[in-house]
Amino acid sequence: MNIQELKSFLALYKKETQQTEKWLELRLIEAEDAQFSFTTEELTFGARVAWRNSNKCIGRLFWNSLTVLDQRHLLDEKAIFKALLEHIAFATNDGKIRPVISIFAHKRVHIWNHQLIRYAGYETAEGVIGDSDSLAFTKTCEALGWRGARTNYDVLPLVIQVDDRPPKFIEIPKAYVVEVQIEHPNYDFSSLQMKWYAVPIISSMRFNIGGIDFQAAPFNGWYMGTEIGARNLADEARYHYLPKVAQQMGIETTLNASLWKDRALVELNIAVLHSYKKAGVSIVDHHTAAQQFELFQKQEQKEQREITGNWTWLIPPLSPATTSIYHQPILNKTKKPNYFYQPLPYK
Ligand code: ARG
Repeated sequence: MNIQELKSFLALYKKETQQTEKWLELRLIEAEDAQFSFTTEELTFGARVAWRNSNKCIGRLFWNSLTVLDQRHLLDEKAIFKALLEHIAFATNDGKIRPVISIFAHKRVHIWNHQLIRYAGYETAEGVIGDSDSLAFTKTCEALGWRGARTNYDVLPLVIQVDDRPPKFIEIPKAYVVEVQIEHPNYDFSSLQMKWYAVPIISSMRFNIGGIDFQAAPFNGWYMGTEIGARNLADEARYHYLPKVAQQMGIETTLNASLWKDRALVELNIAVLHSYKKAGVSIVDHHTAAQQFELFQKQEQKEQREITGNWTWLIPPLSPATTSIYHQPILNKTKKPNYFYQPLPYK
C-alpha cells in the first residue's frame, strides 16, 4: 500500500463527490491504519474513474454509468464462480449490454482467464484450431483436466484460484453465453460459419486504486464492430477470414493493388454490425464511437480535467483517417485510479 496514492485518491473522491473537509480529515486518519479498507461507494467511484482514465479506450463517454459489484467478501470458489456467472448474465442483459465490473478480494482471488468468455485455441499438425490468442491458456486448462471439443469456437472454462489453493475450473453453462452468427445483408457468408460472443469481459487486468491492487476485477463494455471484424476474425494470426470472405464475394485475391483485402474487410465489418444489430446485441460502429469520444473530450474539457489517450489504440483499425481522433494529437499520460496489465498467474 502506498499512503501518498491513497491520500490523493481520497482527495479526488472528496472533490468529485462533494465530501466535507471534516470527512476528509477523518478518512485521512483512517488511511494511516493497516486495517484501512475502501467503502463500496469509494470503490464504485474509483472503478468509474479508472475507466475514465483508460487511455486506450474509445468508449469512455459512458464511464459514469459503470455498474460496480462489490464481491470482496467472497473467498469460496463456488461462490466466486456463481458471482462470475451473475456478472455475465447482468452484463449480457438479453443483448442490451450493460457495462459492469465485479471486484473481488484484494490479493486473495485470482482469475486465470484473459476474458470470462473466450474461445480456445489448439495447435495441431494441420495448423491452429480456434483462437490462436488462447493457445497457452487452453493448454493450461487441459493440464488442469479440462478437455475441449476442438471446434473453432469452444468456450474456455472459468479458472480461478483463491489463496494458495489449487486452481479450480468450471464450464460456463451454455445458456450464459450469447453468441452471434455472422451473416451479410447481401452476400452469402453462411458457409464460413463465423460467429463471435456478445460480451467482452476483460479479466486479466488489475484495478489500481489509491495504491491498492485488485487483481481480480473483471469488467466489460460492449463491442465496437472493428474489434471483431477488423481484428479477431480478420487478423492473419487470428481467424484469418479475409481470403474466404473475398471468395464468397467472388473477387480475385491475387493482386495486392486490387485492394481485395480492403474490400473484404469492409464487407466483413458490415456483416458484423448487421448481425449484432439483427440479433439485438449492443454494438457500436467506429464512426459513432469516435463521435462519442469527441463528446467525452468536450465533457472532460468542461470539467477542466486533462484529457489523456493512447492514439495508437484510439484510432480504429478500419478507415482510421475518417475519424476525428486520427487528426489530433492526444497526451498519453497515466492517471490513477486505472486498469493495468499484470503478469499471467500461470506458467
Ligand atoms: N478487443 C478485445 C476483443 O476483441 C476486447 C477488449 C475490450 N473491448 C470492449 N469493447 N470493451 O475481444
